[in-house]
Formats: sequence, C-alpha cells, structure tokens
Amino acid sequence: MRIVRLSSLGLMGFLFVLLFFQGLGSQGKIKAGDDALGTRRYEDFQTPGFCGISCHSDFFQQWKQAMMSQAYTHHWDEIEYFKLAVPHAEKDPVVAGVKAGCNGCHAPLAFLASDVPPPPPSANSRANESVSCDLCHSITGFAGDVPFNYNWIVEPGKTKYGPRDGKNSPEHNLMKSEFLGTTEFCGTCHNEKSPYGVWVKSTQLEWKEGPYAREGVKCHDCHMTYAEGKTAAMGNIYRDARQHLFHGAHDPGKVRGTVELRIHPDIREAEPGEKVKFTIVLFNQKTGHKFPTGSVEDRIVWMHVEAVDSKGKAYHLPVDKKGFAGEEFTIAANTLAYQDMGIPLGDSSFPGVQRDGIPVGNRIFRMAYFDPQGRMTIQQWNTKSLGTDYRFGPRETKVETCTFTLPHDIAPGPLRVTAILNYQKLVKPVAEFLGVPEDESEIIKVNEHSTIITVLK
Ligand code: HEC
Ligand code: HEC
Ligand code: HEC
Ligand code: HEC
Repeated sequence: MRIVRLSSLGLMGFLFVLLFFQGLGSQGKIKAGDDALGTRRYEDFQTPGFCGISCHSDFFQQWKQAMMSQAYTHHWDEIEYFKLAVPHAEKDPVVAGVKAGCNGCHAPLAFLASDVPPPPPSANSRANESVSCDLCHSITGFAGDVPFNYNWIVEPGKTKYGPRDGKNSPEHNLMKSEFLGTTEFCGTCHNEKSPYGVWVKSTQLEWKEGPYAREGVKCHDCHMTYAEGKTAAMGNIYRDARQHLFHGAHDPGKVRGTVELRIHPDIREAEPGEKVKFTIVLFNQKTGHKFPTGSVEDRIVWMHVEAVDSKGKAYHLPVDKKGFAGEEFTIAANTLAYQDMGIPLGDSSFPGVQRDGIPVGNRIFRMAYFDPQGRMTIQQWNTKSLGTDYRFGPRETKVETCTFTLPHDIAPGPLRVTAILNYQKLVKPVAEFLGVPEDESEIIKVNEHSTIITVLK
C-alpha cells in the first residue's frame, strides 16, 4: 500500500518535472520556417494602420506604395496562388506544402496563424497586411546557416527591433538589432528552395557572390536608402533615416538604365550583299544581384536590334549564336512551353502557350526553370532543374553580335542600327492566358543606343 503510494507520487512528480521542462523548452526555442505554422495569432501583431496613422505616417505611405504591402493582394500573386499553386498542392503530394508555404513570405501573419489558405483578398482579412511593419520589426534572427524559405524567427510583443537604441515611445520598447541591418534578414524571404530542393529564388545568394558584398554595399543601400528626416512624427531628425521604398521591378524608374549598352559596326561603309558585323557591349551598372533576379521564372530581359535604311525601311537583325549548351532557351523562338499549368487547371493534354512572345531571333537574358518532366515552367514550386544562367551578373559586361548581310534592294545612304534592351516582369503569353492585368507584362525599355554606317551604291 505504502510502496504503491510512494511510487505513484514519484511518477507524478516525474511527469510534472518533464512537463515543466518541456514548457521551458518550447518557450526558449522559437520555431521558424515550416515549423512556425500555427504558432501565433493575428492579434499578436499590430496592424500597419496602427503604426502608421499617428506616428510613422511617412514610412507608412512609402510602404503602402511598395510591393511589400501588396505581396498577398496584388493581382498576379492572387491569380498564381489561387489558380495554380493551391489546386496543384491539393493534387500533387510533393508540392502539398506550398499551400501554406507561399504565405510564409507573402502573408506571414496568415501563415503564423495557420489561416491556410487565407480568405481571398476581396474578403479584406488581416492576410491582406502582407509583409507588415510589425512582422519585420519583430524578427530577431533566423534558424540555421542559410537564410531561405521564411526561416526568420519572430518574437512579437511590446519590444520592437530597429536600427537604433535610445528614445522610447509610449507604445513600445525599442531594442537595437543588428539583424535587421543585414542582408540575411532580407534573404529569409528573398532566397527560396522548391520542394525539389532547387534554388528558385536566390537574390541574397547572388549578392553574396558579387562585388557589392565585398564592398559592404547592402540591400538597404539601394532599396531603403538613407536620407535626412524624421522616422516618427514626434521623433528626432536623423541624417540617415531609412527610407521604406523597397522599389524594384514594379518601379520602371528603378529598372530603367540598369544595363548600359553601346553598339558599333566592324566597318563603316558597305555595299549591298556585303556583311557587316555589329557588336553590342552591355554593362550591368546598377543591380547588386543578377538582372533579372527574384521571380526569374517569370521575368525576361531581351535585346532587339533593328536597322532602318535611308528610305525608312526597317530590318530586324537576329542575334548571332554563340554555341553554348542550353542556348536555345536564350534566343526567342516560336515554340510552346509551360505545359505543367495543365496540372492545376485540370487539363492533362494542355499544349502549353507561346514560350517567349517576342520577335523570334532576339537574345533573351534569362535562366530557364524546368519541371520534373523537363518542360519549361513558370511554376517555381514545380521546378526540378535549372537551365543555363544567362542573366547579367552585378557589374558584368556581356558582348553580343548581329551579322547583317545587306539586302540587294537596300537604299543607299545612311543606315541607322539601334539596339534596344527591354524588360518584362511576366512573359506576355502567360499573362494573357491567365488573365493577368496588362501592367504585369508591360514592356519597360531599359536602354537603347544607335550607330550609323553608310550603304554605298
Ligand atoms: C520588409 C521589412 C520591413 C517592413 C515591412 C517595414 N520595415 Fe521598418 N525597417 C526595416 C529595416 C530593415 C530597417 C532598418 C534596419 C537597419 O538599417 O538596421 C527599418 C527601420 C525602421 C525604422 C527606423 C528608421 C531609422 O532610420 O531609425 C522605423 C521607425 C520603421 N522601420 C518603421 C516601420 C513602419 C512604421 C513600417 C510599416 C509602415 C515598417 N517599418 C515596415 C524593415 C522593415
Ligand atoms: C547596388 C544596388 C543594389 C543592391 C546592393 C541590391 N539591389 Fe536589388 N535591385 C537593384 C536595382 C537597380 C533593381 C532593379 C532592376 C531589377 O529589377 O533587377 C533591383 C531589383 C530588386 C528586386 C526586384 C527584382 C524583380 O525582378 O522583381 C528585388 C526583389 C531586390 N532588388 C532585392 C534585393 C535584395 C534582397 C538585395 C540584397 C541581398 C538587393 N536587392 C541588393 C539594385 C540593388
Ligand atoms: C517576410 C518576408 C520578406 C522580408 C523579410 C523581406 N522581403 Fe522584400 N519582398 C517580400 C515579398 C513577398 C515580395 C514580393 C511582393 C510581390 O510582388 O508579391 C518582396 C518584394 C521586394 C522588392 C521588389 C519590389 C518590386 O517593385 O518588385 C524589393 C526591392 C524588396 N522586397 C526588398 C527587400 C529588402 C531590401 C529586404 C530587407 C531589408 C526585404 N525585401 C525583406 C518579402 C520579404
Ligand atoms: C521564400 C519566400 C517566398 C515563398 C515561399 C514564395 N514567394 Fe513568391 N515571391 C517572393 C519574393 C521575395 C518575391 C519578389 C521577387 C521579385 O521581386 O522578383 C516573390 C514574387 C512572387 C510573384 C511575382 C509577383 C509580381 O508581381 O511579379 C508571384 C506571382 C509569387 N511570388 C507567387 C508565389 C506563390 C504562388 C508561392 C507559393 C507557391 C510563392 N510565391 C512562394 C517570396 C516568396
């Protein structure tokens, strides 16, 4: 009797101690990445409106205009998530995780609250806050060695993390955090691995390998530039207040001038029937990572070269082939691709859509993504391998040539040859097929340059 009682007490004591330590354990180690699903509530975070209305109104207005505040609600994000990713996740167990996972970066509060899939943007739920003030300013670090796939660690509460100590507000305690000032912070969302283990987004990794990392020029220096001003309505004026611009592909002004190009001929005078070789030298002077970066599956940069004779007749000059492996994906062709959209759309015999949607023969600076069947895909989560990386590295110079045999009926006199570099966020045929509003596939001119030769009689 006595012995039994003792041992049962002992067992209860043991269980108690076990539970106590487990409790401590789960508090001491905050979950990150996929493990953070369902670990918080929406109410744990302040709304951007709360931060922005009376105190940080200037930053709030900047953020409102940036993609950061629209990462969940923007048309193309909504279409890709609800039309393709969610139905695909429900059909293919390999990619099932993206139903929740997309939100880890695009609607982090919904992810943390396990509100999956979140209500559509039209429902106006808190998922619409997208990447909000309080999400970023509650991040304290990341789990593991490499930042990727939303492996940030978030500790919401009265303490907000930022670049400075000092003045405290009645609303929160400020804590200086070195982490927010690092590129790894950005990398937790700007590096992404597909369920097949392929890097489908690697902006921070590209930066790390490039010249800007060696010189200590960070993401912030180009996307959150420092200017004199207040950081809060009642606060001090700082000489280096971090602007919340986050301007990128959706700001044509940021894209323009990214690459400088110059075109020159090998001879200045030629007769009809003669060959003239035009060389185009293209220099990426502006991006700290590759160009294009980020959603590389969607984005294309391409060069169009055109000659106009003295009578105004125009000739399109296709680029000369260089002969490297996988080059066929870097020269515009009249061919179909993206057949794997048929899986989520429930059309197993879907033939695909036009691959490039631009004049055939133009050079495309891109990296192709391939699905498990080896077909080109824009579904980055369904990417099993990558093609040749023919994008511009930071400060890289590429050289292209176009050899033009002057036609026999070309008008004598000056021949003006122009090279134009264009950029498109989403290849046009995909945008048209999925009904994505036109601004997503608008053509942005990055740069252009002309040269003149004389056509002899
Ligand atoms: C994508 C993440 C992100 C979002 C979203 C974000 N911030 Fe920031 N914020 C930062 C980073 C990074 C810094 C600068 C950190 C550094 O330089 O060390 C910063 C700095 C600040 C500072 C201090 C500026 C200074 O120079 O002292 C304030 C205040 C601030 N943010 C408020 C806000 C408000 C308000 C919002 C929402 C309207 C917001 N932030 C949204 C990342 C973010
Ligand atoms: C030296 C300046 C510079 C630095 C450093 C830099 N960027 Fe950029 N970034 C640019 C320019 C210019 C563009 C516009 C051209 C483009 O879209 O690639 C851009 C574009 C982007 C885009 C939009 C890409 C797209 O296709 O939607 C993202 C995202 C981005 N940068 C994130 C980052 C991150 C994260 C870092 C740090 C790891 C960083 N940038 C460092 C200059 C810079
Ligand atoms: C919590 C995740 C998260 C963090 C942290 C984050 N970003 Fe982003 N960022 C996003 C998402 C999601 C988008 C895409 C929005 C869209 O187009 O749907 C984005 C878009 C951008 C763009 C592209 C805007 C455009 O015009 O296309 C830039 C530039 C950018 N971020 C810079 C940064 C920088 C710099 C940092 C670090 C200081 C950072 N981001 C940290 C999630 C994040
Ligand atoms: C690791 C973080 C991360 C994950 C996970 C993620 N994204 Fe993104 N997504 C981003 C960032 C950052 C950008 C912006 C990159 C850029 O500017 O090119 C982006 C851009 C996009 C864009 C292009 C937006 C535009 O306007 O051009 C779409 C669409 C998109 N994501 C949809 C999805 C879907 C659907 C999923 C899930 C299958 C997903 N994303 C998963 C971080 C992520």
